[in-house]
Parts: sequence; structure tokens; C-alpha cells
Amino acid sequence: MRKIDSLYLHFPFCAHLCNYCDFYKKIPENKAQDYENFHRYLQGAFDEHEKLRKVNGYSWAPLKTLYIGGGTPSLWGIEGARFLKNFLKDNALSLAPDCEFTLEVNPGAWDEYTLSEWEKIGVNRYSLGIQSLDGTLSKYLDRVHSIEDVYATLEFFYRKKVNFSVDFMLGLPFSKELSRDVINELERALKFNPSHFSVYILTVKNNYTHYKQLPAEEWIEKEYLSVAHFLKEKGFRHYEVSNFALPNKESRHNLNYWKSKTVAGLGPSATGFFAEEKLRYKWKTNSPVMELENLLDTEFHLEKVYMALRSFIGIDLDSFLPEKNVFKKWEKMGWAAIEQDRYLTLTSHGYLILDTLINELFTLKLIK
Ligand SMILES: C[S@@+](CC[C@H](N)C(=O)[O-])C[C@H]1O[C@@H](n2cnc3c(N)ncnc32)[C@H](O)[C@@H]1O
Ligand code: SF4
Repeated sequence: MRKIDSLYLHFPFCAHLCNYCDFYKKIPENKAQDYENFHRYLQGAFDEHEKLRKVNGYSWAPLKTLYIGGGTPSLWGIEGARFLKNFLKDNALSLAPDCEFTLEVNPGAWDEYTLSEWEKIGVNRYSLGIQSLDGTLSKYLDRVHSIEDVYATLEFFYRKKVNFSVDFMLGLPFSKELSRDVINELERALKFNPSHFSVYILTVKNNYTHYKQLPAEEWIEKEYLSVAHFLKEKGFRHYEVSNFALPNKESRHNLNYWKSKTVAGLGPSATGFFAEEKLRYKWKTNSPVMELENLLDTEFHLEKVYMALRSFIGIDLDSFLPEKNVFKKWEKMGWAAIEQDRYLTLTSHGYLILDTLINELFTLKLIK
């Protein structure tokens, strides 16, 4: 049976627009009005989604994962928690008993009462955008919160013993000049018991304000590998290019993407995927209208290989016979590990050069 048990919601508002960020977001002009319009948008999008769901023979199942990303979802506030509770009920959506329900939180953009309201409706995981614990770098990064705001959030999560992930970024402008010590930053964050780290390499266009101050590629590679080494030593599994988790604390929601499974998405700029139909959709930002994209078999296959290689899901080499030599070479170079002479996953070093490895598979015509 075709079912949907995973949902992403995109909350598109922020208090400030960080100069490096490419996600769809805006500052509300009139908060009450903008939030009301957003709520109307979500209902409109759900109604549209119902048509597509039915035509393609899917039914909703109790949600096993629900992820609210943004933007800055913690700004949605009590009003957001109330809206969502009614939204789920009115649309006959329910949460499975063990649903992983994640809310993204920005330092300085939450309060205790609001988070307790979110927890009442099921939130059981937070994702906190730290980026850097160095005050100077954080300012260059155009973050509006202070390092004290970050610590206040970490202390609160620690005291409440909540399950949370933290986001850091590497390759920050001026890192070299300021001798950024990211390991020291991670060490400080670790004291508050996060169960998960997302560590992204900053990606920007060439008109980025601090483009000329970005560190060299070799410097970033070294930084990335030292982070991977450090977190592994602390018991975190490097289970995806940018993600590290304690045992059983992987993001179940994101795993669905990496396994190329069906995940619904609602909200401006959000995407969703009906895996069995190889059908992707993306929501327009100004109205609840979706753009559809049907993937060809070859496109879907390539995407599956790419997604599996970027995570611990890995690939079964038997489906790539007879050309196993290239994978043996990857193993010898320390880019991959092969178990039972058959199951391949990339190492941290392999993740770092993922695109080159994928290109090699193209060149050898192992994927089209
Ligand atoms: C959806 S974003 C927003 C999270 C939250 N609003 C915040 O600012 O902390 C999730 C994460 O993507 C990462 N990110 C945002 N822009 C990025 C960029 N240009 N390059 C790499 N990572 C980026 C950051 O680590 C951020 O925490
Ligand atoms: S707060 Fe987060 S989503 Fe908003 S602009 Fe900054 S990085 Fe982007």
C-alpha cells in the first residue's frame, strides 16, 4: 500500500536575514497578517496536496516523522503550536506513538512557555542553529543572536534533558585569520549533551559579502576531517556527509530523504516526493501552487545511488557487477569501507570527495 507517514513543514519567517542564507524566508511586515496568510497558505497547500495524493493512490498513515524547518520556526510561537494542533486534527492527520517531531530553534528566538506548548502537541526533538561559538565569527556571519543566547538555549536543553541536535558551519570567512578552533567550540557544545551534530560547509555565491575572506579549500578539508575525527572519538557516528549522531539518534526524518522514500512537504519553497511514482513537487512561494517533476527511471536510479552514497545506507556492489575494481580502489585509498565483500559505505574522507566519486561512476558508465 502506498502511504505517507513523513511530513516536512516550511515556516518562512525570520527576525533577520543572515547574509549567507539561501533558504526561502522573509521578515514579516505585519506579523498578525503575515502569519494569518501563512496559515491560509498551508491549508490551501494541503487541499491541493490531497488532490495529488488521491490521483496517485496514496493514503496518509500516522506520521512517523514531522519536521518543522525554516526560516525560524521557533518564532511561530504559541500561535503556531495551536494552529498546528488544529491543522492536524481538521485534516485527519495524526502522529504515530513514536513519531519523531523536530522543531528548528534559533538562539534568542524562543521562550520556555512557547516550547512547552510545542512539546504538548508532540515536539520531542529540537535542532538548534549555533553555527559558531566564536563571538567574532558569529558577527561576521551576520547572526543576530549573541553567544550568551546560545548558551542560554544549551543550558535550558541540558536542564530539561531534551533530545536535540546542533548545527555548526565550517569554512567561515576570516576563520584562518582568527585561527578558528572549531574543535574547542564542539567540545564546549558537547558539555550540554546534544545527541546529534549537523556540520555544514558554508556554501555561498560569489557575490557573498565576505567571499574574498573565505578560507582555501585545503583549509576547509582539514577542518572537516578534524571535526569528523573528533566527533567519532566522542562516540558519534558520521552517518551522512554533514551529520553525526550518537547510537540510534540519527535524524529519522532526514533518513527518509537519504533512503529516497516518500516524504510529503508543505509550505512556500518546500518539496515533497512520492517515491513509488518517482514524482517530485515543489511549492511556489507566493501561492499554494506546486510544480511537478516526474523523474525518469535513470534519474531516479542516479538519485538513489547519490543519496545512498552520501549516507551510511551505502550501496550493494552486486548491483554494479562486473565492475568491482573501482570500488576496491576506493577502499584502498581510504575513501570507502566494504563489508562482506559486497556492501559499500563511504568514509569521512570519501564523503568529502563525494562528487568526484560520483563522477568516476559516470565516466565508467556504472551510472547513467
Ligand atoms: C534551514 S537552515 C535554518 C536554521 C535556523 N534558521 C538558523 O539560522 O539557525 C538550517 C541550517 O542550514 C545551514 N545553512 C544555512 N545556510 C547555509 C549555507 N549557505 N551553507 C551551508 N549551510 C547553511 C545552517 O547550519 C543552518 O542552521
Ligand atoms: S535565521 Fe536561519 S533561516 Fe533565517 S536567514 Fe538566518 S540562516 Fe537563514
